[in-house]
Amino acid sequence: MKTNRYSGFYKLPVRERLREVAEFSNLTKEEEELIIDGNSLDLDIADKMIENVIGKFTLPFAVALNFIINGKEYLIPMVTEEASVVAAASNAARLARETGGFFASTTDSIMIAQIQLVGVKDPNFAKMVILDNREKIKEICNEKDPYLVQHGGGFVDLEVRVIESIQGQMVIIHLKVDTLDAMGANAVNTMAEAVAPFIEEITGGKVYLRILSNLAVHRLARSRVTISKEALGGEEVVDGIVLAYAFAEADPFRAATHNKGIMNGITSVVLATGNDTRAVEAGAHAYAAITGRYTSLTTWEKNKEGNLVGTIEVPLAVGLVGGATKIHPIARLAIKILGVSTARQLAEVIASVGLAQNLAALRALATEGIQKGHMALHARNVASVAGAKGELLDRLVEIMVREKMVNVEYAKELMKKLDK
Ligand code: MEV
Repeated sequence: MKTNRYSGFYKLPVRERLREVAEFSNLTKEEEELIIDGNSLDLDIADKMIENVIGKFTLPFAVALNFIINGKEYLIPMVTEEASVVAAASNAARLARETGGFFASTTDSIMIAQIQLVGVKDPNFAKMVILDNREKIKEICNEKDPYLVQHGGGFVDLEVRVIESIQGQMVIIHLKVDTLDAMGANAVNTMAEAVAPFIEEITGGKVYLRILSNLAVHRLARSRVTISKEALGGEEVVDGIVLAYAFAEADPFRAATHNKGIMNGITSVVLATGNDTRAVEAGAHAYAAITGRYTSLTTWEKNKEGNLVGTIEVPLAVGLVGGATKIHPIARLAIKILGVSTARQLAEVIASVGLAQNLAALRALATEGIQKGHMALHARNVASVAGAKGELLDRLVEIMVREKMVNVEYAKELMKKLDK
């Protein structure tokens, strides 16, 4: 496969699909075997990743096609249990190709570590004392991670707020740290713990919590896309998608589902690359509520030519070093398949996938509804669970979808009939 635009990819047997991916991403034979085996996480490694391990749990590993991001073609590794996510992302990415695909950018990889200071009589004065000691705090932070500093990262800034709580006033210190290609949780938590005694010393207060914030507002990824009205099937579809967005923008009940669809894409790539799905999800949903009202993470508008334009802005604390990203053999290969070399490039890809996923969902919802596409994929699952393979499976899917009767019992019944 020399391009990621591939028609009929889904019709190939799994091994042939993998061959194509291997060719695109220069995987070795051993790497191909690791992926197809799916059992490549060593039990010893698994046993060190979490506690009380009793085995391993596998999920399907797929690639989304057709993505062009900042002029480069990508195959997107995705891990999910949900049918239609990968197909939807690929379809949306195909629509974006004629207009150049997705254009993405990121801020620096700046994480926040929070320090909670209580028991000071004069919190506003304490705030100033802490700010006066910026250089010493910087020194304590950077001493904890010389490697990060050597590579251009480390302490960036200090922010101090006095907040009102049900337990009275508290002084909240934010250490802003550029963690470069690491997700950064360990780095910033270590720094916060190291700084805490000094904060107590200069203020006379008591520090309790010292932990990162998942609301990573200084680690944003952004992406934008234009889709021609022709590719969408007409201006009416553009209008439908813009109205769907307006609904999500205005109503938290809809925004939750709208953003869930975005996270279908984002989480699948975050998981495939061995990153922390909960960190990214917490950050995304908190960011969606940053104005005080939970709303959409994306925007969709009609431009003056009548075409659809969409944007996303989301915090994405993902890394290429540390954690499962380096330990898990398939996560490492997912990065190789993607071909990204920095955490920021990874975040740009992930934001674009989120935007594509949202587009696919809104397009379906604003036109034929979500069930038609879902049904066909669900029927494939059901037919496979019933034990059907090859042509028989295709036949079962066709009948179940036509008759709108998709369940394992019916699939088994049909199999018996067709057998006769
Ligand atoms: C289903 O997993 C995701 C959708 O509900 C998203 C949406 O409604 O926008 C289809």
